[in-house]
Formats: sequence, structure tokens, C-alpha cells
Amino acid sequence: MQSQHPCNQESREHCTVAADGGLHVARIAAPRLQEALLGWYRSHRRRLPWRGSKSAYRIFLAEMMLQQTQVERVVPKYHAFLAHYPTIRRLAAAPLAEVIRLWAGLGYNRRAVHLHRAAQAVVRAHGGRLPMNLAALLELPGVGAYTARALLSFADNAPVAVVDTNVRRVLGRVFQRDLAAHYGNSGPTERQFQALADSLVPADHSARWNQALMDLGSVTCTSRQPDCDRCPFFAWCQARRRGEVIDLPGLRPRGQGKFAGSKRYYRGRIIAALRERPPGSTIPFSALVERVQDREAMEMTAGWLWELTRDLERDGLVVIAGDRQDQAQAIIMLPT
Ligand code: ADE
Repeated sequence: MQSQHPCNQESREHCTVAADGGLHVARIAAPRLQEALLGWYRSHRRRLPWRGSKSAYRIFLAEMMLQQTQVERVVPKYHAFLAHYPTIRRLAAAPLAEVIRLWAGLGYNRRAVHLHRAAQAVVRAHGGRLPMNLAALLELPGVGAYTARALLSFADNAPVAVVDTNVRRVLGRVFQRDLAAHYGNSGPTERQFQALADSLVPADHSARWNQALMDLGSVTCTSRQPDCDRCPFFAWCQARRRGEVIDLPGLRPRGQGKFAGSKRYYRGRIIAALRERPPGSTIPFSALVERVQDREAMEMTAGWLWELTRDLERDGLVVIAGDRQDQAQAIIMLPT
């Protein structure tokens, strides 16, 4: 039930306060916003290979890849994975090393392990079908609030909002003033923001709606160069009307943190070195150290790389065999 909150009423334009005290989009505003965006989406949508599919497996595969990788890089890998593993059972039955190899180019290799473990859990606990409920999805390795809701919306049209950085930015701008008036400087919590976003999902068009919001955020309502003149929310956007579209708090400066020489960089180099080896082969740790050193970056000590290799082992990405107590005698391989 939505009700008008007695205080602050005049400062909210498109929102009302729900029974739980959280901000929801007003019933009078929601259909107009929905119509505007869904109309825009008809002529501006990106055609992506997983869109339109109702196969939960295909959507799952795409969303696991899209968690931290750009669409352009995901597309060819998505096709490659489907060619290798046309079903979730085939993926679950594949050797993990093969999945890690095929993941090359997507980065954040831990996701390959999560994907594989999730596929195995689906086969083991759900008869090979991804469960279409939030709690069960959240139990799967590598599946968080975002991926679980993406699956529910895209595969099942469930009326839930899929909130990623882009969606947060778009809705944060459209409702900027209402959010500030209601939640103050600290802003809404994730749960409160999710509730606001949920209240805007059109009951019968969840999948299209969520995809449309994502596209708007990546094409038009971008963080640095928003194209407000072409935005379907032009008339409603509270940040635009206040001239504050660019000045969103919390935007990270571009290119923050140096990648070359970072932990993530060397983790990637260790896995890349192992991928280069023929399947099933091992490499002495001492040889691995030589291979992963990079002339462009600072030389790393064997001790530091050993710790990194141990981290990778904990993440399920490598196996350390031989004498684990003695770096000089240890041999490293991808997990079987
Ligand atoms: N990013 C994450 N999921 C996406 C999707 N389904 N379409 C486009 N970009 C995305």
C-alpha cells in the first residue's frame, strides 16, 4: 500500500512513501515513465545474442560474463561457450581446466570457477534446471542480487528490477530530488533503492523494461557525456532540471588504480601462463615465476608470487602439487 507521507510532500514530485517508509514511484507517474522508455526502446534497443532468449541457461551464462566485462568482449565468448557447452549439464560435466581456458579474454577468472560450480549445483540440487526463485538462485556460487534478478526478469519476466551501476545512475538522476528530500545526504540503502526501482517495473514487461533501462544507461544516460536531449526521461529528470546531471557524487575518477603490476594483473598472468601449456601439463613454480615477470612492470619477488598462487588455489583456479612446503619443489597446474 502506498500512502502520502504528511511531511515533505511538496518536495516530492514523482514519488510517494510506501507503508514501510521507503520511497516508491507514484502510481500516477509510473505508467508515463514506462511508456516513455518502452517507446524509446522499440527503436533504440541493442540487439544482443542472449536477448529474446527464454533459455535460463543462456541468460545465466551471459549474465555471469557480463558481471565485470563489457558487452563487446562478452559476445564472442558467449557464442564460444554455447558451442562448447550447449546445455548446463554439458558445462557441469566439463573439466574445470577447460572452462578456465575458454574463459580467456573475459578477465576476473574466478567467475569461471563460479560458473562451473553453479552449473554443478544446478545439476545436483535442481535436476539441471536453474531454479526460478530468488533465494535458491542466491545460493548458487557467484550469483548475487543483480544476477539473480536479471535471471528472474529476463528468463521469467518476474516483476523485479535489475539494478546495476547504469540503472542506479539513470534512476538516481531521474529521482534525484525526491531521493535527496527523503533520504538526505547519505542517500538510500541498496535495499531502499531496490524497492524504488521495483516499484517502477511494469508488471507485464519486466524483461523489456530492465533491458531498456540498461541500454539507456549505457547509450544515452552515460556517466560522463549524457545526451539529455535524446533521453526519453528528459521531461521528468530531476537532475537535468537542476543542471546537476554531471555532478553526481560518488563517480569514480577514470582510470583509477594502476592495473599493470597490481595483484589482479599478476593473477591474470599466472592463469594466462598456465593456459598456454598443453592441457593436463604442469609447470614448476620456479619456471612460472620466470614466465609471469613482466619487463613493463616492477619485478615481483618469488615470495609475493607464491602468496598469489596460494590465493589462486584457495579460489579454485590452480592446483599446487609436489612439495607444497617448498616453493622450489612445488608444481602448479590448472584444476582438473
Ligand atoms: N549488462 C549486464 N547484463 C546485461 C544485459 N543483459 N544486456 C546488456 N548489458 C548488460
